[in-house]
Amino acid sequence: MICREIILKNFRNIEDEKVTFGDGVNVLCGFNAQGKTNILEGIYYFALGKSFRGASDRELIFHGRDNAEISLDFTDMTRERHHSVNLSVKEKKMCRKEGIKVSKLSEFIGIFRAVLFSPEVLSCVKDGPAERRSFLDVAISQIYPAYMASLINYRKLLQNRNAVLKDSENRNCDELLYVLSCQMAEEAERIARYRDEYTSMLASETNALIKEISLGKESVSMKYRTGKSREEYLKLLTENTEKEKILKTTLYGVHKDDLEIKLSGYDSRIYASQGQQRSIALSMKLAEGEISKKICGEYPVFLLDDIFSELDDIRKDYILSGLGNRQVIITCCEKIIKGNIYGISGGKISKQSIQQ
Ligand SMILES: Nc1ncnc2c1ncn2[C@@H]1O[C@H](COP(=O)(O)OP(=O)(O)OP(=O)(O)O)[C@@H](O)[C@H]1O
Ligand SMILES: [Mg+2]
Repeated sequence: MICREIILKNFRNIEDEKVTFGDGVNVLCGFNAQGKTNILEGIYYFALGKSFRGASDRELIFHGRDNAEISLDFTDMTRERHHSVNLSVKEKKMCRKEGIKVSKLSEFIGIFRAVLFSPEVLSCVKDGPAERRSFLDVAISQIYPAYMASLINYRKLLQNRNAVLKDSENRNCDELLYVLSCQMAEEAERIARYRDEYTSMLASETNALIKEISLGKESVSMKYRTGKSREEYLKLLTENTEKEKILKTTLYGVHKDDLEIKLSGYDSRIYASQGQQRSIALSMKLAEGEISKKICGEYPVFLLDDIFSELDDIRKDYILSGLGNRQVIITCCEKIIKGNIYGISGGKISKQSIQQ
C-alpha cells in the first residue's frame, strides 16, 4: 500500500498544503511545533477514523475556521483510491470513499492501512492495560472492520449502562441493567475472541523478531488475559450489580481485560529493562505490519512520529532494516535519515526533494 498524496485544508496549523510522497523513505523535517505530526495525524486519520492524539474532530480544525478538509490518494493492490474527510464545527464529520458518502465509520476504515510508531507506543509495554488494549483495538480494527463495529457498539452499551448505574439511586433500573448486561456480554465475547486470536498471531511474530535481535537469548510470550465466554461475562455483570450501583460504574467486561506480555517467562512490565521494553514494543509494531500483510495481502504504510530522537543507533538500524524497502513516512527534527526530504515550517511545506 502506498500513500501517494495528501491535501490538508484548515487542518490543525495547516491552511492549504499538498504533500506528494515517494515509494521508499519520506522524511518530514523541521523545528518543533511546525506541523510535522499534524501531517502524520492527517494521514493516520484515514486508518483510524479519528485523531491518534485523542483530539476531538473539532480540535483538528484550524482555530477560528468552520471547516477542515483532508483528502488522501493511495494505491492498494487493486487500484488507485481517493478518500476524503470533511470536518465541521457545527455538523457531524463526512467521510467519502471515491467521492461517495459513507455513513458508518466501520465501512470507511480498513481500506487505507497504516502502522504508527510513536513515543507513546514505545512505552506501551510498561504502561497500564488501557495502552495494550488500545494497541489491540487499533491493529484489529484495521484488518477486521466487523471488530470495529462491535467495539463501537460495546462502548455505546457501556456508556448507557454506566449512566443507568449513576441514576440507580433514583429509580428501579434492574430490568434495564439486565438487558444491557445481556447485550454487552454478547459483544464482549465477540471482541474477546478477536483479541485472543490476534494475540496468538502477535505473540508468534513478535517472538520471532525478539529472538532475532537478542541472538536467540530472549523470547516473548503473550496471553490475552481474562477473555471469557458470553455466559461468563454475563454472570460477572449480573452477580456484581449491587456493588456496581454503589460504585456507579461497570466493573467487568472487555474494557477491563489486559494483554499479558512475558519476556523469557517473566512479566515484562516488572522484569524487563527499559531498553528491553522498548524493543518488545517496536517488535510488536513491526509484527502488526507483518500480520496486516498476511491477512490483507500487502504491507501497510509505516508512520514513524518522532521516535528516532528517543532511540539508540542499534534500535534505529533495527527499525529501518526491519522496514526494508516499504513505504515509510518519518517525522524528525534533524536530517539524519536519507530519503525524500520535506521541510516543514509554520504549517507550510517549505521544500520537497524527491529522489527519483
Ligand atoms: N486546531 C489548530 N489550529 C491551529 N493551530 C494548531 C491547531 N492544533 C494544533 N496547532 C498547532 O500546530 C503546531 C504544530 O503542531 P505539531 O504537533 O504538528 O508540531 P511538530 O512539528 O510535530 O513539533 P514537534 O517537533 O515538537 O513534535 C503547534 O504549534 C500547535 O499549537
Ligand atoms: Mg511532533
